[in-house]
Amino acid sequence: MKKAFVKSYGCQMNAYDAARMADVLGAEGYAPTDTVEDADVVVLNTCHIREKAAEKVYSELGRLRELKGERRRAGLDTRIVVAGCVAQAEGAEIVARQPAVDVVVGPQSYHRLPDLIARSRERRVVDTEFPVEDKFDHLPARRNRGVTAFLTVQEGCDKFCAFCVVPYTRGAEVSRSVAAVVGEAEKLVAEGVREITLIGQNVNAYHGLSADGAAATLPDLMRAVAAIPGVARIRYTTSHPNDMADDLIRAHAEIPALMPYLHLPVQSGSDRILKAMNRKHTGDQYRRLIERVRASRPDIALSSDFIVGFPGETDEDFADTMRLVEEVGFESAFSFKYSPRPGTPAAERADAVPEAVKSERLAALQALLDRQRHAYQRAAEGQVVDVLVEKAGRHPGQVAGKTPHMLAVHFEAPASTIGSVVAVRIREAGANSLTGELVQRAEAA
Ligand code: SAH
Ligand code: SF4
Ligand code: F3S
Repeated sequence: MKKAFVKSYGCQMNAYDAARMADVLGAEGYAPTDTVEDADVVVLNTCHIREKAAEKVYSELGRLRELKGERRRAGLDTRIVVAGCVAQAEGAEIVARQPAVDVVVGPQSYHRLPDLIARSRERRVVDTEFPVEDKFDHLPARRNRGVTAFLTVQEGCDKFCAFCVVPYTRGAEVSRSVAAVVGEAEKLVAEGVREITLIGQNVNAYHGLSADGAAATLPDLMRAVAAIPGVARIRYTTSHPNDMADDLIRAHAEIPALMPYLHLPVQSGSDRILKAMNRKHTGDQYRRLIERVRASRPDIALSSDFIVGFPGETDEDFADTMRLVEEVGFESAFSFKYSPRPGTPAAERADAVPEAVKSERLAALQALLDRQRHAYQRAAEGQVVDVLVEKAGRHPGQVAGKTPHMLAVHFEAPASTIGSVVAVRIREAGANSLTGELVQRAEAA
């Protein structure tokens, strides 16, 4: 049997796309494999967001070239496919830099993968068009193992933050219809999924078509998904502060399946830097927004992304970021050193922050965020919380799952609890996860 190795290097949507590419290849008779040496087709689903992520691809491709040579000497063909956002941004360059690559395919064209692979036997193919047809209409049924799943509901971005490649690699904002999303969600639930995370580069700008022909908002979509029997939990990511509409804030109080967790990137606490980043909001506007979200759902856990060392960022600007973090308080966060990306406005600026300063600021910010995360985890000790059991734990007899606030918990329980929401008393907060004990079955699967 032919085998396909598909690897994701990027965000949740990149992981979603990788899974769908495995579906496309599965429909063509390729069984999935985790062993790259065995693969007849190797797909690298790449990420262009920071230089490090993009460069990783070229070193990986160097190794694959050798593997391809070895397999050829053994009489085996290997098709090497570069997909994702680096493919979209650097299609021609990839082909020029690495002769072992057979197919380059962008994030909007991967439904054509079987055809592209077939054509690559004649000559190497680059497909980075934004096709007129919708890839979602041409993808085979989803196969999903597991209790939680991502579901793309919106793709692309019209925001053009000065540092970011996403509007170029993913194109303009497009929302899928409510019917398309509900249809995919129903299939997931039929395969045992209990938690669905609605994903989009700007998911709270969602405005897909509803059955009555009007535009649905994200809360409308959440209600439609929550109505599917078997859906226990809904999450959504990633949101932009400026699209945090009143009905979405209210939804956190009104939709029981919607989990009390919000990933709302602020990037910086300095108004000067926010302006230079083209974020179109101030630090205080973000603080007031968080107050309103907390008024609607007092126990909501917050998460954010931060960039340190954006061009022109002074010590004072950075101190504003630290102050915002202290005032808001985050359960978790991702923080990055600014990485200049070709084609973005910020990359043209001459006032780059030295690498050493970026490193210092990142270390200080991460230390503060770590302290907040640990305090949040410790505050859970002794509480009884609902846990959706996702999988077997590391030790025999253990299972692992997540709290509504996205904290990972390990505890002893039979494997039959996988897929159910159970009550767990949190015993202790460890470095990265909590331990606890089963209290009772809160709900049957
Ligand atoms: N659509 C999402 C996520 C975009 S990418 C959003 O708007 O938040 C995820 C994160 O990567 C961003 O939030 C930002 O913090 C970071 N990022 C994007 N471009 C970057 C760059 N050039 N350098 C460093 N970090 C970057
Ligand atoms: Fe990038 Fe900004 Fe769009 Fe997020 S909102 S994807 S950071 S341009
Ligand atoms: Fe990376 Fe593209 Fe996602 S650049 S973060 S894989 S949208």
